[in-house]
Amino acid sequence: MKISSSSHYISKFSLFHQIRRALSSYTVHELQSDQYGAPLEVLKLNKTQTIDGNQLKANESIVKLIASPINPADINMIQGKYAILPKSFPATFGNEGVFEIVETNVKAGLKPGDWVIPKVLEWGKWRSYGILAENDLMYIPKKDLMPEAVATLSVNPCTAVRLIKDFVQLEKGDTIIQNGGNSAVGLAVIQLGKLWGFNVVSIVRQRENLQELVDYMKSIGGEHVYVEEDLRKAILLTDLWKKIPRPKLGLNCVGGRATIDLLRILAKSGTMVTYGGMSKQPITVPTSEFIFKNLTCKGFWLSRWKTDNMKNNEYQKMLHELIGYIKQGHLKPPQCQLFKLEDYAKAIEASEQRFSTKKVLFIS
Ligand SMILES: NC(=O)c1ccc[n+]([C@@H]2O[C@H](COP(=O)([O-])OP(=O)(O)OC[C@H]3O[C@@H](n4cnc5c(N)ncnc54)[C@H](OP(=O)(O)O)[C@@H]3O)[C@@H](O)[C@H]2O)c1
Repeated sequence: MKISSSSHYISKFSLFHQIRRALSSYTVHELQSDQYGAPLEVLKLNKTQTIDGNQLKANESIVKLIASPINPADINMIQGKYAILPKSFPATFGNEGVFEIVETNVKAGLKPGDWVIPKVLEWGKWRSYGILAENDLMYIPKKDLMPEAVATLSVNPCTAVRLIKDFVQLEKGDTIIQNGGNSAVGLAVIQLGKLWGFNVVSIVRQRENLQELVDYMKSIGGEHVYVEEDLRKAILLTDLWKKIPRPKLGLNCVGGRATIDLLRILAKSGTMVTYGGMSKQPITVPTSEFIFKNLTCKGFWLSRWKTDNMKNNEYQKMLHELIGYIKQGHLKPPQCQLFKLEDYAKAIEASEQRFSTKKVLFIS
């Protein structure tokens, strides 16, 4: 049979790709558990499969982990104490992260080397490799971006944006007060608040190396940093409000006593939004403030916001706005500690350290 030179070329070309793909296979390791429990007791790094490009359906890509953080919600999920839980076991954890395309069947658009954020919530990101469809990936223009900034972008800075924008109509010069001021969300609130012209008063827990923390928070734009005890002293009961307006918006990451004190500081008709419960204590609203100051207390959950905004372009628009701020130097990623997946026990221990302002990230 006579083969035309072009079909001969095509068959050689596809043979070349088949051989290359057969040679490039990827071992998938996933940080999983078979049950809920304490992370150090239940997590295991499992070798789950080997994948290669021949398995890819149209529009699918093989992605490789670049970096994925440990957030408090990940720990809560492993413990079985979160609003969204895995549908089955073994379950792979990790709610956010940045990956690199290593092979792709996507004809136009994505190419090897591109950075992507997986959009699928239930697809655990603590894994070395995986296969995802094009619709499940968000392309990130990586020029001038640090992996840590992208890996930690889709939860905490997005939460900060929604907390500042969605509850109170703030005007330039208005004040926001927040506890957990050194959390990743809090650090993003400080930077975005400053960028948008608001005063941000941040409350942190007392600690031995307080000055070091305050210096760091000031270096990223935190002008007003106080400890929880100051909420009951003249400086925050009266004095500061002679210089800047009382806060119209309070952001609660902590719960318990820190929140009662913060509520007392709010302006008349102020709003407090609870988004975290780090102290594991309930919120008690002081009755007289609630009635006589006409306070509003609300809750916020980014996962619900993402579900509500799945069909419009708002999430993508917000990520690109935040990427712009990172590139312009307005938004710095949290300080990070990096661990390989196989060092997961050390990583979990580091993430559970008190008074650490460093985000723990898995890298491949
Ligand atoms: N609702 C949402 O959609 C949403 C989205 C993102 C995050 N969150 C929540 O927001 C919170 C912060 O998340 P993140 O990733 O920003 O956290 P992170 O960077 O890990 O920081 C944790 C913060 O909590 C403080 N903290 C820890 N234990 C505490 C305790 N017992 N009492 C008081 N403060 C304590 C830490 O202060 P120290 O330095 O003093 O230890 C630090 O400020 C978490 O509860 C998380 O689940 C919620």
